[in-house]
Amino acid sequence: MSKQRALLGTAHSSLLCEVVDGALLIRHWGAPLTGDIAHVELAQRPSIANSAFDQSQSGGIMRESSRGFLGRPTLSGHRNGSAWSTKFEVTDFHHRGEGVAVTLRDLHAELEIVISLELDSFGVLTQNAAIKNLGNSPYSLDEFIHWLPLPQEANQTLDFAGRWSNERNPQRRDIATGTWIRDSREGRSGHNFSIADIALTSLTTFQHGQAWATSIAWSGNSQYLVERLWNGEQSIGAGELLLPGEVQLAPNETYVAPTLISVYSNEGLDGIASAYHQHIRTRSMHPQRPRPLTLNMWEAIYFEQSEEKIKKLVDVAAEIGVERVVLDDGWFHSRRNDTSGLGDWVIDPAVWPHGLSSIIKYINDAGIEFGLWFEGEMVNPDSDLYRVHPEWILHEGDRIPPLWRNQLVLDLGHEGAYNHVLEQTSAILGAHNIAYIKWDHNRVLVDAGHLGKAGVRRQTQAIYRLFAELKKRHKGLEIESCASGGARVDLGVIDYVDRFWTSDNNDALARQNIQRWTSQVIPPEMLGTHIGPTHGHQTGRTLELSMRAVTALFGHAGIEWDITEADSEQRGFLKSWASYYKTKRALLHTSTTVRVDYPDEHGLLHGVISRDKAKAIFAYVQLTPTVAVNPAPLKIPNLDRDATYDIKAVFPAGEPRYMAVKKPEWMSGITMSGSALSVIGVTAPILAPANAFLIEITKL
Ligand code: DGJ
Repeated sequence: MSKQRALLGTAHSSLLCEVVDGALLIRHWGAPLTGDIAHVELAQRPSIANSAFDQSQSGGIMRESSRGFLGRPTLSGHRNGSAWSTKFEVTDFHHRGEGVAVTLRDLHAELEIVISLELDSFGVLTQNAAIKNLGNSPYSLDEFIHWLPLPQEANQTLDFAGRWSNERNPQRRDIATGTWIRDSREGRSGHNFSIADIALTSLTTFQHGQAWATSIAWSGNSQYLVERLWNGEQSIGAGELLLPGEVQLAPNETYVAPTLISVYSNEGLDGIASAYHQHIRTRSMHPQRPRPLTLNMWEAIYFEQSEEKIKKLVDVAAEIGVERVVLDDGWFHSRRNDTSGLGDWVIDPAVWPHGLSSIIKYINDAGIEFGLWFEGEMVNPDSDLYRVHPEWILHEGDRIPPLWRNQLVLDLGHEGAYNHVLEQTSAILGAHNIAYIKWDHNRVLVDAGHLGKAGVRRQTQAIYRLFAELKKRHKGLEIESCASGGARVDLGVIDYVDRFWTSDNNDALARQNIQRWTSQVIPPEMLGTHIGPTHGHQTGRTLELSMRAVTALFGHAGIEWDITEADSEQRGFLKSWASYYKTKRALLHTSTTVRVDYPDEHGLLHGVISRDKAKAIFAYVQLTPTVAVNPAPLKIPNLDRDATYDIKAVFPAGEPRYMAVKKPEWMSGITMSGSALSVIGVTAPILAPANAFLIEITKL
């Protein structure tokens, strides 16, 4: 019988899987594989060690103890104590193009699993699985993890940790024997969620070296794992973190696991980012129209909302060239501060005697779109909703979960609660011209029970359903996923939203790192990036407008500042920056993100290069003062080596603060080949700390 084998491959990576003794095996995931691979099985067959099975064993993709596998299994569960160990056999193997779909069955455990693997032209591997209960009794599913093999060159992992206002800090460590687990148990992905888990070599940098990245497409509880066994076998995996009893499959019921989206690159961490960005950009729901320059009024007015105040802001916004204005938290019934009102999504006549229509008209008449804030999953105990339906919160028994920002979480798995939120928000959207909503989620889920059972999975599915329904009812509606800043940025919710609020921290210096690492997976056009106030509200730091403007340019740009306080010079800069953003956004939002391996830890050099390498914009950011007089030269990689480029410094929001008598002459314009620019580079100016400027590069 011919081998059931599939080699999926692109110029960037390959995946080789085959059926061995009824088990599905991934033999290789990583570097491109071509030519004669007939004897790979023989080549991979290991020694029979002392103190070992008499014949070599392979757990296959299901990693089963019945097949001699001693690491963490793919599937854990039972049928009231039985069916605890499985031995799945492949019953169907379908290979078409760059995809393979495999059905596996264990007739004793009465389970069927359909696994599909697909590699797109960017080298992005999409892994899906559905588990069906074929028996007559319920099957309790405890865990299902998607796993991929890692070669031993992968000797480190990189994942991300964080907290409110300081999301996505990289942590890199050596892989040792054992399992490294990153759990997310907040019921939302979380500030501390690892947007991806990346295996790499100790030599891998932004530009060079191998990396194997996985990202779980899920906004509820999840886990990432990197496992190295005593025999040297290594793997990386991720899946939903199920709470006890959360998935009980009734006869014929199917559990659909969250998708795992993975990338291999031998072009460093930028290679990984580029593949993710291209994959995301080809989705049918990816935002198509130019990303409107946004003014979010939160840090301008907080809860002090009035038509009069907003009109003043809108007048300045119109003068600057803002295209979308967002009314944040505080517009609805009894919401004068964060202690009350959540759950009552009706307009407060005390604040809006003419309803919202009159302010929306004022904004629209200025040629600006209007956006509105919601936090539909939440309720304040001090709200009409809670007074009538205290039973609609996620809770267990007669316990009320501890309050967080004075709020509790509505159980959207409860039909009544779901319909209340859907109908109230939908009514507001139906009655007004609202282009966009910012949907917040300011607390974690704990003790999150739904009718006596764990309710996080149900809650996660409900919010996806609700977003889809709102978009269906209100054509063209855009949604921003916000959760106290960047606590719901993941590849699950991404298919329902158009923008992520990257972080509540609008301090440009802090933002450099947060944006740098969020863009490891998410393309810049989906990352909200705002010019914050002169004195940062989170850090209290005072930063130049030029620094704030350069930082906010690399994303879906906006302003979050009381611009009525800006003086005429600042308004002039904001205006020229706004028009610069509009001219450059097509380039900023479709290009390849480049994070240069800059040798000086006191500075950052990053930017975008158009796919045809004809145009680029880079930012040089002086984080802290250099020790040497001159920071390292600015060398731009990945351009067309033989082409000649025009290179100049540009200052749409003013020049940075220099610590020198004279700045380098090239800044007013120079021509150079792509090769010279990457090998020799241009001299970095001596900037004061926390300053930045832009470099524009155009092919001649
Ligand atoms: C947290 C968000 O991240 C902020 O931007 C703002 O919308 C507040 N919530 C409002 O409560």
